[in-house]
Amino acid sequence: MSFGRKLADGDGGHYRELISEAKNRYHRPAAACKLDRLVLARKTPTMPQSIFVLTGAGISAESGLGTFRDKRGEGIWAKFDPMKLATPEAFARDPETVLAFYDLRRRNLLNAEPNAAHRALARLGQAMTERGGRLTLVTQNIDDLHERAGSARVIHMHGELLKARCDGCVAVRPWLGDLSVSDVCPDCGRAGALRPHVVWFGEMPMRMGEIDRALRKADLFVAIGTSGAVYPAAGFVADARACGLRTCEINLDAADNAGLFDEQRLGPASVTVPAWVDEVLDG
Ligand code: OAD
Repeated sequence: MSFGRKLADGDGGHYRELISEAKNRYHRPAAACKLDRLVLARKTPTMPQSIFVLTGAGISAESGLGTFRDKRGEGIWAKFDPMKLATPEAFARDPETVLAFYDLRRRNLLNAEPNAAHRALARLGQAMTERGGRLTLVTQNIDDLHERAGSARVIHMHGELLKARCDGCVAVRPWLGDLSVSDVCPDCGRAGALRPHVVWFGEMPMRMGEIDRALRKADLFVAIGTSGAVYPAAGFVADARACGLRTCEINLDAADNAGLFDEQRLGPASVTVPAWVDEVLDG
């Protein structure tokens, strides 16, 4: 398996130059510079030691949870206006409508099951840990299907639907039922301050420092089932390239930023992700 870009005929000289520069720098201590990382990543076709996976709505599509955008115009945001449902301003203006939207999504989630793609990533994480490597799994999804499939330490950069947060005391609690404007915060007793523990448009995604550090330490960046339309996640592939990581897109339709990936695998996640995981583990 090769995630590296195939060298075109004319690239040989450039490649040799990079290798020779890498050799000259080889004895420099720790914290490899970007160029070292780039050359070493392309030189070494063995199993990556540290993989950074970013998932989006597409990985949960076959579990029955809708995606937001697709090439057929059937995504959630083709039917509903995100500015009226997923912004702090919308919540301030019309909390009942916003809460009802997330209630519906929470009920759908509680009836959904992880699919073969979620299970394959859990298997990958476990196998990498056993081999002394590391899988960083960052998701834009607010569902808990990665966890239910067995993945540990999932980073939910857009929050978690099965939790509620109090705008008053900022306590975060598991929340499986509907949320109403009259609900009382179990921590501070304030009524009307609970909201889904999710990130809305215009808010800062969660755990960005941790994500940035993990990306810099990885050998391989893989984006699965995301349209590459929403930042900052859509910018991770460019950051990964700048750090010399190999990059791979696994998607149903090519993402908006598809041109930035070294490799692309198109198809349903329940097929493409287990196949990719098998290849990685077979070395
Ligand atoms: P999108 O809905 O924008 O994109 C879904 C992606 O999944 C598309 O590239 C599809 O081709 C792909 N896809 C659909 N079915 C698939 C399948 N069975 N297998 C593999 N891929 C499939 O979802 P995200 O990129 O995750 O944010 O959206 C990013 C953010 O935009 C979301 O977190 C959400 C949304 O607005 C907020 O609500 C703040």
